[in-house]
Amino acid sequence: MIEIRNLTKSYVTQENTFNALEDISFTVEDGDLFGIIGMSGAGKSTLLNVISGLIKPNQGEILIDGEIFDYEDEKRLKELRKKIGFVFQGYHLLMQKTVYENIAFPLRIQKKNEEEIKQTVDELIIKVGLVGKENVYPAKLSGGQKQRVAIARALVNKPRLLLLDEPTSALDSLTTKEIIRLLQHIHKEEKVTMLLITHEINVARILTNKVLVIDQGRFIELKNTEDIFLNPESEIAKLLLGKEVQP
Ligand SMILES: Nc1ncnc2c1ncn2[C@@H]1O[C@H](COP(=O)(O)OP(=O)(O)OP(=O)(O)O)[C@@H](O)[C@H]1O
Ligand SMILES: [Mg+2]
Repeated sequence: MIEIRNLTKSYVTQENTFNALEDISFTVEDGDLFGIIGMSGAGKSTLLNVISGLIKPNQGEILIDGEIFDYEDEKRLKELRKKIGFVFQGYHLLMQKTVYENIAFPLRIQKKNEEEIKQTVDELIIKVGLVGKENVYPAKLSGGQKQRVAIARALVNKPRLLLLDEPTSALDSLTTKEIIRLLQHIHKEEKVTMLLITHEINVARILTNKVLVIDQGRFIELKNTEDIFLNPESEIAKLLLGKEVQP
């Protein structure tokens, strides 16, 4: 469903220019629950931002259902981006808006009519378990509830691909389990492909079917989740999975 070909993204800083992503290629199949792991600074968020169309790569291509993401064609890019939902690291909710209005926001930008907005938002509120919280402001929500709002908002356009950047890293273990259950439910019900970044190895183990390991912007290994836990090949995967590194 999504193919990443030879992606390179460099950042220019005051000191130097460096590659946050370097020649990364992989494919995500329809229905995958695809995990990306790597150390802090490995380039995980950069990778997700490029895939979502938020930032443009320096080199390489992204194909969605066989169609190349053309970063110059803004109209088409907008349409392709509707196929993609994004749950940002740290929720990114609008603090001055209620739960209902946060979820409705992307639809208001698209100038959908009130009736359509209400139908979509009401459905999503039930789906993510926020009934009764419609008129509450984010400041009064728990972390898990905020994440539910962010997930609902990411689903408003019925995306085929959901990108999640550290969806559970700010949550306690019980709330993490609830969010995992919610994501499993959405994956099954909506048939949505998911691509998620996590540094929590247990989340990767429970939730994903494939894991990509990246380090310093480079592709390290990609395996079925079960295989990578049983037999991580790279030193970095062993380190991330808490296995003993051979001296
Ligand atoms: N806008 C930017 N300008 C310059 N450098 C950046 C920018 N965004 C990220 N970087 C750098 O690029 C590298 C990759 O950053 P990125 O945020 O993708 O890492 P990450 O794997 O998501 O890390 P974390 O696990 O801490 O979230 C880091 O060295 C970071 O400092
Ligand atoms: Mg990050």
